[in-house]
Amino acid sequence: MERLRSAQWYEGQDRNAYIHRAWMRRGVPGDAFTGRPQIAIANTASDLTPCNAHLDEVAASVRNGVYEAGGIPLDLPVVSLGETQVRPTAMLWRNMAAMATEEMLRANPVDGVVLLGGCDKTIPSLLMAAASVDLPAVVVPGGPMLNGTFRGGLLGCGTGVWRLSEEVRAGTLSQEEFTRSESAMIRSRGHCNTMGTASTMALVAEALGTVLPGTAGTPAPDSRLLEAAHHTGRLAVDMVGAGRRPATFLTEASFHNAIVALAAIGGSTNAVVHLLAVAGRLGIDLSLDDFDRIGSRVPVLVDLQPAGRFLMEDFHRAGGLLAVLREVRDLLDPDALTVTGRPLVACLDDAAIWDGEVIRTRGRPLVAEGGIAVLRGNLAPDGALVKPAAASPHLLRHRGRAVVFDSIEDFRARIDDPGLDVDADSVLVLRGCGPKGYPGMPEVANMPLPKKLLEQGVRDMVRVCDGRMSGTAYGTVVLHVAPEAAAGGPLALVRTGDFITLDVEARRIDVDVPEAELARRTPDQATVTGFAAPRRGWERLYIDHVLQADTGADLDFLVGSSGSEVTRESH
Ligand code: FES
Ligand code: MG
Repeated sequence: MERLRSAQWYEGQDRNAYIHRAWMRRGVPGDAFTGRPQIAIANTASDLTPCNAHLDEVAASVRNGVYEAGGIPLDLPVVSLGETQVRPTAMLWRNMAAMATEEMLRANPVDGVVLLGGCDKTIPSLLMAAASVDLPAVVVPGGPMLNGTFRGGLLGCGTGVWRLSEEVRAGTLSQEEFTRSESAMIRSRGHCNTMGTASTMALVAEALGTVLPGTAGTPAPDSRLLEAAHHTGRLAVDMVGAGRRPATFLTEASFHNAIVALAAIGGSTNAVVHLLAVAGRLGIDLSLDDFDRIGSRVPVLVDLQPAGRFLMEDFHRAGGLLAVLREVRDLLDPDALTVTGRPLVACLDDAAIWDGEVIRTRGRPLVAEGGIAVLRGNLAPDGALVKPAAASPHLLRHRGRAVVFDSIEDFRARIDDPGLDVDADSVLVLRGCGPKGYPGMPEVANMPLPKKLLEQGVRDMVRVCDGRMSGTAYGTVVLHVAPEAAAGGPLALVRTGDFITLDVEARRIDVDVPEAELARRTPDQATVTGFAAPRRGWERLYIDHVLQADTGADLDFLVGSSGSEVTRESH
């Protein structure tokens, strides 16, 4: 093994080495500082991130594994983001969490890191940090909640809220019953049990090669999660010995496999932004179009809510990610490696589907061509996304009159107005919700439908937005429109009454306004005043430096890597 990075703190007899060791001893034997890998456990446990609240127990198992393999485990609490609690949106803080974790890993005497995440933004921020520091790093996903049930049927996190709240608005469910469903939905520790962003990112992290293969998706209360954590602790020590840093195994091939997996599991559109951001940290040339090129012909094999029926507990029981990947093995890049040093495809031989309803075979896909379609047009010159598997087939090609909203507040104030000029063919447009405009690019693109149309039985409409949508949501939603309205995108110029044409097959989203006329228009004052204008703090820094969704919405000065070089002494 090469000299450890931490030796630059602990080795030697001088005053500074003394200081570094002495404050860390506290009952630890002296040999803890001589040649034993120091493994940080970057832990996003927090009571305000309920999905990750159990991670201290997971960390304890990681510690056991680290000790057993001869390393020294070190708890490192890092910025944690609770998707449902943090305002204005957890996405505003993803880059801050990534930056803080990156800097603390680089500043401290650590040789490797185990990353404990779960809730939506936590695994992406940890991966971005680890990619920029480039120390041996491995993820333990905290795992999904157990299945929720209500009135005899499965109730999925997020998806159930969208569905039941629409039922209340449509008058088919009482307010009392709606409230009663709360604890039925959130039934155990763990993150959302639908194929939302958290489940998606855990599985995508495994497909990338950053998780002990076969362990992502293990439910949070399952003993096997702790076993995986213990094994991962051992593995982290092994990775330090082997010099297995992200730059050595996270390659273009890894991202190829992640995109195939994302499509095959029918994963969240949020994964696109997160994968682009992680790739940006590694200097890997990944573009929006790669998602369409690699993923759009991949069959969806997983029948999970929001697009399907089941939940993550079922997915794990049915064989998990490796069973899915085995079905699409020919589409995977065989060269992509994992944290174990072995190729991902080498882990598929023993995988099997145990429930063919939850995980379909290749010959019986849920959707023949899944993935995410990347649209362009005069409304989205730099791209927009739509997830055809979550959309209504009859709306994939559609022309309708725009009904434009300048902010989510404007939308809420007017959408249920009986006098609003809107019908089932209208296209709902919501702007000012991109990275700069909100700020932070909130999950508001899946706009609720007008009450009067719900009462008529309308259940889906074409919606267009520069924001994101929850991975647990569904509908014919064109999202991540880039450039966003607040960054001068043409979305700012659309007016109510303009015709918008969506053609998913042709990968187009256009407003039927002549170019010359569009060029003459300037955004209304009401549009512009809807954009965020923070005076100070993180929000100010964020707005000044955030990139658009099509490149991952990272901050411009965080793209790339600084490595793990040890800087000057503190004394
Ligand atoms: Fe945490 Fe859904 S709210 S994963
Ligand atoms: Mg979310």
